[in-house]
Amino acid sequence: MSRQLLPVLLLLLLLGALSPWGQEQGAESPSEEPPEEEIPKEDGILVLSHHTLGLALREHRGLLVEFYAPWCGHCKALAPEYSKAAALLAAESMAVTLAKVDGPAQPELAEEFGVTEYPTLKFFHHGNRTHPEEYTGPREAEGIVEWLRRRVGPSARRLEDEEGAQALIDAWDLVVIGFFQDLQDEDVATFLALARDALDMTFGLTDRPQLFQQFGLTKDTVVLFKKFDEGRADFPVDEELGLDVGDLSRFLVTHSMHLVTEFNSQTSPKIFAARILNHLLLFLNQSLAAHRELLPGFGEAAPRFRGQVLFVVVDVDADNEHVLQYFGLKAEAAPTLRLVNVETTKKYAPADGDPVTAASVTAFCHAVLSGQVKPYLLSQEVPPDWDQRPVKTLVGKNFEQVAFDETKNVFVKFYAPWCTHCKEMAPAWEALAEKYKDHEDIIIAELDATANELDAFTVHGFPTLKYFPAGPGRKVLEYKSSRDLETLSKFLDNGGELPTEEPPEELAAPSPEPPTNSTVGSKEEL
Ligand SMILES: *[C@@H]1O[C@H](CO)[C@@H](O)[C@H](O)[C@H]1NC(C)=O
Ligand SMILES: *[C@@H]1O[C@H](CO)[C@@H](O)[C@H](O)[C@H]1NC(C)=O
Ligand SMILES: *[C@@H]1O[C@H](CO)[C@@H](O)[C@H](O)[C@H]1NC(C)=O
Repeated sequence: MSRQLLPVLLLLLLLGALSPWGQEQGAESPSEEPPEEEIPKEDGILVLSHHTLGLALREHRGLLVEFYAPWCGHCKALAPEYSKAAALLAAESMAVTLAKVDGPAQPELAEEFGVTEYPTLKFFHHGNRTHPEEYTGPREAEGIVEWLRRRVGPSARRLEDEEGAQALIDAWDLVVIGFFQDLQDEDVATFLALARDALDMTFGLTDRPQLFQQFGLTKDTVVLFKKFDEGRADFPVDEELGLDVGDLSRFLVTHSMHLVTEFNSQTSPKIFAARILNHLLLFLNQSLAAHRELLPGFGEAAPRFRGQVLFVVVDVDADNEHVLQYFGLKAEAAPTLRLVNVETTKKYAPADGDPVTAASVTAFCHAVLSGQVKPYLLSQEVPPDWDQRPVKTLVGKNFEQVAFDETKNVFVKFYAPWCTHCKEMAPAWEALAEKYKDHEDIIIAELDATANELDAFTVHGFPTLKYFPAGPGRKVLEYKSSRDLETLSKFLDNGGELPTEEPPEELAAPSPEPPTNSTVGSKEEL
């Protein structure tokens, strides 16, 4: 208590001594009401408690409150940006104040606002304590300020004439203007709500007939103006159904992407947020002039697939090893194309030796989209010594033949090189293989499922253990019990199931969930 109170008391003393306004307040309020507390500040941020939130809400028309916890790493990362945002807001004289609440130390507030994780940010507008808006914006200073600007001010600028419209279009790379004949229409509210959150575009709004005319419009339309590619894209508002926010949002995301995007850490989040199912990747070495010469042809094919296939360039000379790996490619393979459907994760390659031209790229896209190209599966080469050790090495290319051999019982560990649970069980697997190496009909094997894909099924978690019993019918059993030598041996000895006299509690105990962090099918990994 004393730690918080001391600076407050000092402040009050100073204010009382130096400021004439202290007197005035005392004179206006009835004497029985206690003097209002001064709220402490740290780095330009109000530090609130359950005593002072009410006061802060009365005093500040816009109040963004961060609920943090002292141990929370994301909160620490946010802190400098949050302070910088406070400084920017002050410099702009924007009517928003930033505040923070130590959630664990203020359980009443955490409970009142249903805060269960940190940081959680809530925006209180016009002192309304019961209906704060959840902060969903970026976690850096400029982004925070822009998110707030679109709430305390209009999210779209009203355009009255040609000059104003042109000035807005010229000032930004991406400008969205809503042309509405009636600004009282519900569609306008929809448009403004979308503009509050689409921070990477600037919004304008007009109902002026001369502006409709200038831009060749006769009906309500949302127009995206951009300083690249086609320059402009129109989204006519459906006269019967009105403006659908989902459709408009998809339209803006799709059309604000460049026709060809260079893959890097800045563009990859956009590439995956674009909700375009097919990605066509051109792998090339940007340091080679002969490779760069392929770019115009590639770009020429892009417009007709806008919204359907996203065209991406991957520089094999940059830090893109993980992308190459995902497609099972070596840098030497460049220049080459791959197409991936990010929903099914199916990958497609053009015929060997196809040159990269506008015509060949177009033909390849059409062929994949119309189902004429079979997806390819990743596989490593079969190592020459694959069957020399007790644990046999399987890859995509020998999997079918070994696992579905009707004369053998085959037990396979599907792993990922980075997976810790896989490493933990490796000794038990080796021991198991050693124990059964003289059993003619039993094979213990492993397969790196990040580098080898199978026709028969997709491996989702690591490790996955599957048992392929001898005999016809391509039977597959998944093993889900303890991964220790004793239990694994019992399973094998009992012909692919665990004996029922085992104490049921132990059997029923769930084995740890395999981590879902699989590179196979993970969008972030591309
Ligand atoms: C707070 O906002 C909600 C929703 O807009 C409204 O229903 C409520 O009356 C407001 N409360 C106050 C005190 O203004
Ligand atoms: C790309 O080309 C440059 C220039 O020839 C070469 O030095 C570099 O090794 C190449 N990069 C890759 C990954 O092959
Ligand atoms: C997830 O996978 C990446 C590599 O793809 C690895 O660096 C990371 O440590 C993994 N995380 C977990 C929790 O296994």
